[in-house]
Amino acid sequence: MTIAAGDDQIGSGLFGVGQDEAADVDAGRFLRMDFRFHAMVVQVTQGLFKPIPISAPPLPGNPATPAKVALGKMLYFEPRLSESHSISCNSCHMIGMGGVDLQETSLGHRWQHGGRNAPTVYNAVFDVAQFWDGRAKDLEQQAGGPLVNPVEMGTTETHVVEQLKGIPGYAGAFAKAYPGESDPITLDNVRKAIAVFEATLITPHAPFDRYLTGNDKALDATQKEGLALFINKGCVACHKGVNIGGGMYAPFGVVERPGADILPPGDKGRFAVTKTVSDEYVFRVPSLRNITLTAPYFHTGKVWDLRQAIAIMGSSQLGAKLTDDEARKIEVFLGALTGDQPIVTLPILPPSVTTTPRPKP
Ligand code: HEC
Ligand code: HEC
Repeated sequence: MTIAAGDDQIGSGLFGVGQDEAADVDAGRFLRMDFRFHAMVVQVTQGLFKPIPISAPPLPGNPATPAKVALGKMLYFEPRLSESHSISCNSCHMIGMGGVDLQETSLGHRWQHGGRNAPTVYNAVFDVAQFWDGRAKDLEQQAGGPLVNPVEMGTTETHVVEQLKGIPGYAGAFAKAYPGESDPITLDNVRKAIAVFEATLITPHAPFDRYLTGNDKALDATQKEGLALFINKGCVACHKGVNIGGGMYAPFGVVERPGADILPPGDKGRFAVTKTVSDEYVFRVPSLRNITLTAPYFHTGKVWDLRQAIAIMGSSQLGAKLTDDEARKIEVFLGALTGDQPIVTLPILPPSVTTTPRPKP
């Protein structure tokens, strides 16, 4: 679903008022409401957002087993899947660092920069599709992309299989993950294993999730004011659901096109996938989970300051000039979206032998 300026979804806030009135809702009053009214607010909030579940969601047609998750973890950290043997998924989606690389655009094969900022892999399993333009329908399809992308890992599909078959220790790991298959080292099985591992990279128990599940004290007063603004200003029209985003597509610049530094004319987003004119500059709405850990922002990675990103969203998506104080409160609320970070022990990878294909620098 794509929504455009003028849709009455945008800006029709929690109290069912239009955009102009919504802007006037006094967040302080929101806090002083009596208990019954408060219970209603929690109920409405629960209708808009969902907490992150505490265990990995199942993937259709790709059941998780401990052996498959363990293999997926090895492959996620496996630099020998890249042509240079020096880049793994973890190079650009670092576990322990929000699942990102903290670069405007990622540094890949032969020090080349790609065209877009690396989104986090954390909670990606809950998104409607993968990549900024949604060109992969799920994690399994996505995982094949970076391996063969010339500016990411720079290898080929056949070489991925050759490489893994050239490392004897993988035979047993694939056999355990895919019991009963006579030739389990296939690209398809690589993608499936990585996907089930990625599905474990979720961040439950954020203060906001604890609030959603009934703990009123999980958010402090400023965070609640920020939440009220987030809803009433209309951010929630796009950033909603379990990932506070990730569920739909929208143009970047619904009301006002941001400058060419932030939205360069060359990257038309979803248009490249659908070739439909109305999809020009349309992107998948990003998740705002763990957003304070994943600077810089936007598909170009040009904005390092979260408060500035919020202000840009106000003008570009809602035609609303947020005051500094409003942007600050929304920023404080977004801080409550940081959950428990996944704890992952580094896998021991099977050793190379003399016949293992060598790196090509
Ligand atoms: C050189 C850096 C780099 C490497 C290596 C890399 N990625 Fe990415 N990844 C990116 C960038 C950049 C994007 C966004 C590209 C786009 O949207 O066009 C991305 C997107 C993704 C997404 C989509 C997330 C979302 O919210 O849409 C997932 C999932 C992902 N990568 C997983 C992986 C896996 C698994 C591997 C290893 C097989 C990997 N990446 C290797 C840079 C990298
Ligand atoms: C009409 C839909 C829509 C509305 C309304 C909206 N956003 Fe966004 N938001 C997007 C899209 C699309 C992007 C991705 C833009 C890009 O980089 O191409 C985005 C990106 C962001 C980012 C950067 C995320 C990242 O990982 O880089 C933040 C932060 C953000 N929005 C916060 C907000 C806030 C706060 C509001 C309310 C003031 C808001 N948004 C309103 C659609 C929307």
